[in-house]
Amino acid sequence: MMLVYFAVIALATVHAVEEKCDGVTINGLMHTKEVLKTNLDSPYQFSIDYTTNTLFFSYSTHIKDQRFQLAYLNLESKEFNIVSGIKDGFASAVDQDNGKVYLGAKGGVYSFNLKTKEANLLGSTSQNIWQMFYKDGLYYSTYPKEEVYFFKDGVYNRVEELKDTRAMLIALDDNKNIYFSNSSGLYKYNKSNKEILTLGVDVVNGMNSDANGKLYFTSPNGIFRINDKLNTIERLVTLENVYGAAIEKDGSVLCGTDEGIIRFKKSDKCNL
Ligand SMILES: *[C@@H]1O[C@H](CO)[C@@H](O)[C@H](O)[C@H]1NC(C)=O
Ligand SMILES: *[C@@H]1O[C@H](CO)[C@@H](O)[C@H](O)[C@H]1NC(C)=O
Repeated sequence: MMLVYFAVIALATVHAVEEKCDGVTINGLMHTKEVLKTNLDSPYQFSIDYTTNTLFFSYSTHIKDQRFQLAYLNLESKEFNIVSGIKDGFASAVDQDNGKVYLGAKGGVYSFNLKTKEANLLGSTSQNIWQMFYKDGLYYSTYPKEEVYFFKDGVYNRVEELKDTRAMLIALDDNKNIYFSNSSGLYKYNKSNKEILTLGVDVVNGMNSDANGKLYFTSPNGIFRINDKLNTIERLVTLENVYGAAIEKDGSVLCGTDEGIIRFKKSDKCNL
C-alpha cells in the first residue's frame, strides 16, 4: 500500500517537471521564452515593420573601421539578413501608415526597400545618428552631441522644443508630447504647457512604440511601459542585460539580451 502511494507521488513530480518551461511573468501572465537569433553582440535599437512583420535592429561588430551593423529578422520565418551598403548603421524607424523603413547611420538618413534589399541615401547629416522615431515625420537624435532633429524632404532642422536639452532617445505619443532620455533620466515635454516633467531616473537604453502607439522603454535590467495619462512608468519584467525591446502585434515582447534576440509569448500551458 505504502509503495503504491510513493510511486504515484513520484509520477506526479515527473509530470510537473515536464510542464515547467523557460519564461517570465509579464503583467501577471506567463510568457514562454523563445530564442529567435543567437550570436549577436548587444542587439540594440529595435523597431518592427508591422506590415512585413520584420524586426530592424543593430548590433556591435568587431570589424576594423566599423562598430555597428544594421540587420533585420523576419519574425515569422526567422530569416536573418544584414543591411549591406550602410556603414556604422545604428538606428531604424518605420512609418507604419506607408510601410516605409528609415535607417540611420554615421552620416545620413536612408530609406530601405525590403524587396530589393537596397538602401537609398535620403540626406547626409553632419553628425552620427543614434536613434530614430517616426510620428507624422522622422525624428532622430545624434551622437555625441545628443541633439534632436526633424527630417523632411532631405532637410533636417533642430526640434525647437528640445533645443536647450540633451536627448539620446526620443519618442512621441498620439498627442505629440515628446518623451526623451539622457544620462540623467527620462523626461516628458508636455506640448500644451511646454513644461518638462521628470518621469524617472532610470538609465534608458531603448525606447519605441507598439502597434497602437503606446510607448515602451528598456533599461539594462528590464522593460517598462510609459503611462502617458498618469505620467508614470510601469515595469513589465525584470531581466538581465537588456539592450532593446519591441512589442509584436499579438503583444509578444521581443528583446535583445546577451543571449541574442528573444521572444516572450503569452502562454497558459506553462508553469514557471
Ligand atoms: C537631461 O534633460 C533634463 C531635462 O531637459 C535636463 O534637466 C538635464 O540637465 C539633462 N541632462 C544632461 C546630462 O544634460
Ligand atoms: C499637460 O499640461 C496641461 C496644462 O497644464 C495639463 O492639463 C495636462 O494634464 C498635461 N498633460 C500631461 C499628459 O501631462
